[in-house]
Amino acid sequence: MKVLVSLNIPEIGIEMLREAGLEVTTWTNDLPMDREQLIAATRQHDILLSSSIYDLDADFLARNKHLKLISQFAVGYNNIDLGRAAALGITVANTPNAMTDATADIAFGLLLAVSRKMFHMHKMIIKDEWGHFRPQAHLGIELRGKTVGILGMGRIGAAFAHRCAGAYGMKVLYHNRSRNTEAENDIGAEYVSFGELLERSDIISVHCALTKETQGKFDKGAFDKMKPSSIFINTARGGIHNENDLIEALRDKRIWGAGLDVTHPEPMLYDNPLLQMENVAVVPHIGSATVEARNEMSRLAALNIIQFSKGGPLDNLVQ
Ligand code: DGY
Repeated sequence: MKVLVSLNIPEIGIEMLREAGLEVTTWTNDLPMDREQLIAATRQHDILLSSSIYDLDADFLARNKHLKLISQFAVGYNNIDLGRAAALGITVANTPNAMTDATADIAFGLLLAVSRKMFHMHKMIIKDEWGHFRPQAHLGIELRGKTVGILGMGRIGAAFAHRCAGAYGMKVLYHNRSRNTEAENDIGAEYVSFGELLERSDIISVHCALTKETQGKFDKGAFDKMKPSSIFINTARGGIHNENDLIEALRDKRIWGAGLDVTHPEPMLYDNPLLQMENVAVVPHIGSATVEARNEMSRLAALNIIQFSKGGPLDNLVQ
């Protein structure tokens, strides 16, 4: 089988594919392929190793009906039209759990950065505005004993909740499609409705997948229900919050701060008003950007392909 590796991934996965006797074409340019390049190159291959940077929509799939497997170098797969892929008999697999700690760390880091206005303070020094000691200026808020609300208590949500409970004794609330009894037993997490999550949490952190149900879930109505002292963190997908509503909620002080690893669109424009706000920290979708996580993603994406080429089963099958 011929495999197209459409982005510049760590070598470990490429070596595994070659050792398994697969014919591999790699794209070693740091810039992604443009759409037509990707479509043309995919036509020459049976398997596509891809990621969220490529829109594998109905049109893409219709022009590559022959594909057998998409191995996604990510846990999220909202860039793939799963319905069309299923209709065409294209298998989809992903790399869950490779970036659990890395992403939970970014969420936790953003929380600390926002609560103490770190990004803003850094920018002040660059602008030569350190100035003098002012006992009441730019004060942050402390996290001990606060209540954290998790939307999406999967692996990453639970890892973030553990950090909050362990480091600051936070009370953990969560809302999820199903109950997570492990988190309930381990850290006393309490299952609540989405409305209650908004109303009771001092910090809300988003860890769910982007789906039709979660698209734009954090809109004006949701921000209005949150506490004016609350912090909103999103390290899942930018489409889950409405960016204009978030900007308005922060400007009107209906919420206190926000930390984002994901935006909509990506990349965020350099002149986005969020980047000028004192209580906001934004990083450019780097949740999985550690050596450990990216190597493991490469290994799992390759393993999916090798298992598929041998007739399965696949450890990380999406559908
Ligand atoms: C993931 O794995 O889904 C990360 O967000 C990278 O796209």
